[in-house]
Parts: sequence; structure tokens; C-alpha cells
Amino acid sequence: LVETRFPSDPSAKGGGVGLITLHRPKALNALCDALFDDLIHAVMAFDHDEDIGCIVITGSTKAFAAGADISEMSKQEFANVYKKNMFSQWADITKTSKPIIAAVNGFALGGGCELAMMCDILLAGSKAQFGQPEINLGVIPGAGGTQRLIRAVGKSKAMEMVLTGNRISAQEAMDAGLVSKVIDSEILVDEAVKMGFTIAEKSGMAVRMAKEAVNVAEEVSLSEGLRFERRMFHALFATKDQKEGMSAFLEKRKPEFTNE
Ligand code: HXC
Repeated sequence: LVETRFPSDPSAKGGGVGLITLHRPKALNALCDALFDDLIHAVMAFDHDEDIGCIVITGSTKAFAAGADISEMSKQEFANVYKKNMFSQWADITKTSKPIIAAVNGFALGGGCELAMMCDILLAGSKAQFGQPEINLGVIPGAGGTQRLIRAVGKSKAMEMVLTGNRISAQEAMDAGLVSKVIDSEILVDEAVKMGFTIAEKSGMAVRMAKEAVNVAEEVSLSEGLRFERRMFHALFATKDQKEGMSAFLEKRKPEFTNE
């Protein structure tokens, strides 16, 4: 249900990009258990792959993902979903150390929008639509739609989306701060992969610590966050990549990072 492809150009160690394409076209990439298991498996495999420096997740032109699978959910009862802590395993996506770019074309609804928000950079195709329509099904978002969305777009817009179920366009998502760029749909994936290569050619140590530090900002107070950032900054002076990066600058050459 998931297709993986490494666009080849890993010139340096760890310089590759792992592209994951959700592929369940008949259900607009609705995230059934099997699809999500495949996705997590693919993400983890790239996270542990020394040749890969950045991961891109995308869907089809019509849908990034139209949400969790409604036919699977419709049969569930409280005791069952509570005991198995339904959807808690989705958070594994956020435990990766390498950056993940979501390249969102078409619908990113419900769990699809939440999956995109678990990624580190969101790029939207010009026809993308984002929404949390769970309210129309008699439920609420269950994987970050009431939590990550408010941090991205603020309370009023998050409330509006969660309470009305209305979708917002790529441009609105951009204006609200949910996505960092709107890109022509046809070239979205190529551009996302290009951005992936830009990231993958940096020091893998610095990239990982940068991701960790930025994500800590959502969890802790400013003073704790600043302390954590400074400690990470200090720690990078123990890496070969810091020596290489600074020497290369002074010697006016391109750095050759080894991710050590
Ligand atoms: C299961 C889905 C689905 C979904 C679409 N399909 N979304 N199946 N779960 N979430 C299926 C349809 O049943 C249909 O199957 C096929 O995909 C094509 O969909 P259509 O509705 O015919 O397409 P279209 O008219 O273009 O409308 C597209 C759409 C609509 C606006 C995206 O499909 C839609 O509203 N989907 C549901 C969106 C949603 O409510 N998402 C939130 C789910 S709850 P057939 O067999 O009829 O061709 C959720 C909870 C998350 O995500 C909780 C935490 C993870």
C-alpha cells in the first residue's frame, strides 16, 4: 500500500532522500491499519538507513490522505478502541530522528491532515485542501487535530476548522502558517525531493539535533528550550562535522560531512 523510492543522487554519505508514496487510490489513501503499518515500516526503514538523510511523504495528485479509514472505524466500540489505544501508534512517525517533509497534493483531511502535521516541513500543492471533518462523523480529531493544529494556526482558525469541518485551501493554509510553501501541483514532489537533498547534504548530526531542538520548543518553556538548544549547540563541538564545516568555510571549499 506504500511505494518507496530513493531518488538517486546520494553524492555524500547519508545524502540520499527516501521518498514514500501512499498508494491506496481506490479509497483516496484513507489510512486503514494496513496502510499505516506499511507507512510506519517504510519511515522507520529510512530512518535507520545510513544512506538516507531526509524523508519525503506524499500521496497522489487527488489525495494526500482522506483521513483514517471510516469503514474500519465504523465497526469499533469504546472498550475496544480504548483498550488497544487506537491510533496511538501513529505517533511513531514523530519519533524519527531524520526530518520528514510532507508533500501534500489534494485532500489532507482528518487523519491525513494530522499525519501531515506530524511531519517536520509541510509543502502544499496549489490544489491541496486541509481539513478536520471528524465533527461531521460525530467524533473529533484523534491524532493531533485539536493540538498540533492550534499550535500551527492559532485558536480561532483551529476551532473553526474543528467545529465546522470546513476545509481550507493551500493558500489559506499558507497564510495561516500551517504550510511553509505553496508549489505548483505538478512539480510539488520534485521540489520536495530537491529540498530533501538540500537537507541531506548537511551534517546529519546537526540536522538531527536541529530537528530535536525545534520540536522541543513545542513541549517546554522558553527558558528550558533555550537551555536545551544551547546544550545541543555545545554538543555539536564534539562532532567531526563541526570541525569539517568550519574548516571548509575558512578554506573556502565545500564541506564533506561524514555524519560523525
Ligand atoms: C474510507 C474513504 C475515505 C475515508 C474516501 N473514501 N475517504 N473510505 N475512509 N476516510 C472512499 C470513498 O468511500 C469512495 O469509495 C472513494 O474513497 C472515493 O471517495 P468519494 O467520496 O467518492 O470521492 P469525492 O466525491 O471526490 O470526495 C472526496 C472526499 C470524500 C471529499 C475526500 O471522500 C470525503 O469526504 N471523505 C471522508 C473525509 C473524512 O471525513 N475524513 C476524516 C475521517 S475520520 P467508493 O468505494 O465509494 O468508491 C479521521 C479520524 C482521525 O480521520 C482520527 C485519528 C487518526
